Amino acid sequence: MSQITIRGGRKLEGTVQVQGAKNSVLPILAATILHPGQVVLRGCPRLSDVEASIQILRHLGCTARWEGGELLVDTSTMSRWDIPDNLMREMRSSVIFLGAILARLGWAEMSYPGGCELGPRPIDMHLSALRKLGADLREEGGRLRCTAQHMTGREIALSIPSVGATENAILAACGAEGETVLVNAAREPEIRDLQEFLCAIGCKVRGAGSSTICISGRQKTHDAVHTVMPDRIVGATYLAAVAAAGGVVELKNVNYRHLSTVTAALHEAGCKISGGDGRILLKAEGRLGSAGTVRTAPYPGFPTDAQAILMAALLKSQGTTVFVETIFENRYRHVDELHRMGADISIADRVAIVTGVPRLYGAEVRATDLRGGAALLVAGLAAEGVTRIGDVHHIQRGYEDPVRDLAALGADIVWE
Ligand code: EPZ
Repeated sequence: MSQITIRGGRKLEGTVQVQGAKNSVLPILAATILHPGQVVLRGCPRLSDVEASIQILRHLGCTARWEGGELLVDTSTMSRWDIPDNLMREMRSSVIFLGAILARLGWAEMSYPGGCELGPRPIDMHLSALRKLGADLREEGGRLRCTAQHMTGREIALSIPSVGATENAILAACGAEGETVLVNAAREPEIRDLQEFLCAIGCKVRGAGSSTICISGRQKTHDAVHTVMPDRIVGATYLAAVAAAGGVVELKNVNYRHLSTVTAALHEAGCKISGGDGRILLKAEGRLGSAGTVRTAPYPGFPTDAQAILMAALLKSQGTTVFVETIFENRYRHVDELHRMGADISIADRVAIVTGVPRLYGAEVRATDLRGGAALLVAGLAAEGVTRIGDVHHIQRGYEDPVRDLAALGADIVWE
């Protein structure tokens, strides 16, 4: 399957069950290393990024296998502490394994994760947090060589609420003697899910979802079962798809509160939205309007991962929407591809001005990154004619099967 082909212009209607959250299960897969036994992950999405994490666990000597819709991980046979370059290149967020490997074995080695499509992805805050716990981290020829024979808990203040640095610090602190207090921690829902998993295996973590997280290290751990939280960005994607194409959608397995800034923007643009009890209902009739100014920010602000997706939904709106991308340096790479479909978007540094046009046209486009690729799906549904999306491997990193899900809503969309 090398491309996705969409014949746009159809209204959509139906129900979609939202998959488990990629950005929750990736740190949880690293966290399985903290317990030398078996865990069962329910609702684990089948994604290429999950597969990459499974490959890392297997390289480290752990076992991981699917049983129906569940992923069974057993790290009792873990025997290595190094992540080879080819596996690191597969997924830059593999750096999340660093804290967990150090906590379990006191040693860790991996290549420096490169930048990605979104721009440089520094890990200075990850390394600073681990050093504060007592880890010795050296960079030699692009490889990180780390030792932490004895980590001691302490207060760690993050300069910005980095999601990854928060997660890495929590996992390392689980292996440190005594109390660690993380200040200015990220508040994303995925960190609450990580805390829930860690407590399920016997770790002592509290405060996730707030800016201050406390960890009491070196607890005795035990087997556990954990259900991965719903993927709020996948949910946002399908809401945006129906907003763009017009119609009605009911999302199941979604937390309304996690999407409040996204639903607020879609409501501002003219969608009718209601929700609760694990469901969200969206109705889009007639031409959307402007969503005003959309400024990305750390949770609970508007998620940077939904910026491209909402932008695509507003390309044919009446009026102008201004996006301000405050998290990543280079998160407008999808704009050139949307221009090919007739979009009117102008960029000035971190600001994108989207002026609605009456029509979009199907075109040959290429996914530039995960959420930029999702934006092309949304735009293709609203365009007249055929849109062919290449480099779909970017999309497969975070979406189990968008063709299956969108076809269930009546879209004319196929893998080719
Ligand atoms: C996580 O990335 C997510 N990835 C991203 O989702 C998401 O966009 C991002 O959080 C923000 O919500 C996963 O969870 C696997 P950050 P992460 O550390 O942890 C800078 C997707 O589409 N920074 O919060 O890398 C960094 O450069 C992906 O699913 C440092 O300067 O994000 C960025 O500008 C894309 N030094 C900002 O902080 C550091 O040590 C926020 O990054 C770490 C980060």
